[in-house]
Amino acid sequence: MTTVSKDEFFQFTKELCERVGAYQTQKWGTALNIEHKGEINLVTEVDKHSEKLIVEAIQSRFPDHDILAEEGSGERKDSPYKWIIDPLDGTTNFAHAYPLFAISIALEFEGKILAGAVYVPILKELFQGYAGEGAFLNDKPIQVSQSKTVLDSMVATGFAYNLRETHDNNINHFKNVLLKAGAVRRDGVAAIDLCYVACGRYDAFWELDLFPWDTAAGMVICEEAGGRTSRFDGTKYTVYEREILISNSLIHDEMVSILKPGIPRGPRR
Ligand code: IPD
Ligand code: CA
Ligand code: CA
Repeated sequence: MTTVSKDEFFQFTKELCERVGAYQTQKWGTALNIEHKGEINLVTEVDKHSEKLIVEAIQSRFPDHDILAEEGSGERKDSPYKWIIDPLDGTTNFAHAYPLFAISIALEFEGKILAGAVYVPILKELFQGYAGEGAFLNDKPIQVSQSKTVLDSMVATGFAYNLRETHDNNINHFKNVLLKAGAVRRDGVAAIDLCYVACGRYDAFWELDLFPWDTAAGMVICEEAGGRTSRFDGTKYTVYEREILISNSLIHDEMVSILKPGIPRGPRR
């Protein structure tokens, strides 16, 4: 079996993200072929081609590994390694020529997220993390913020594409946090939100109904930078859960006290 060290993961994902990011930058702001996966859930030709480039690179370097990719081109080989890929996080931003979007690539080993890379092509910012070995932005170590209260914090959230079909749509939490926090932002790119907590630009982030490809890479990066992850009630989060709260650790309990009294969770819709 192939083992993937920190150096190998970092070098492989750096080259791959820079190559696919250059393609996305070239396509950004041009006329695109856009399809609808749902009423407000878009997919472009660039999402699909980026995923093809990423999956081909992984299959050629790690042919026996499993792949889980958002646009469906992954395959299962019952390997202990699983690559979890969002080829373009922030598709709605991309389709509107808004410059915040990212490539997110994580590696799971025996059910735990081992490493992650998130690349923001327009800003040329590469976030990388490896369990037990730290988190980095363009090769420099990063740390979460030191904010101690939600009032002193700038926090972020997002809204899933199903928000019109469910009452459990985060609007209640958004209002509750807005009335307590120093500031709340909504950028539309979960992978970047998580990395911004990792490097101290945000102090916390929460969202409902994200998928493993949205959170896996950013979660390990943020935890390696000193962040803490849980469900809204403070219990253990895995990337297969439907709610995530991530913070600089220091304001985590206060965020739980704001999010916990929300509407009880039902199954994913
Ligand atoms: C979406 C983004 C967005 C989040 C949505 C995700 P996509 O991913 O991460 O920030 O609010 O829930 O689905 O579709 O742009 O890859
Ligand atoms: Ca996504
Ligand atoms: Ca995506």
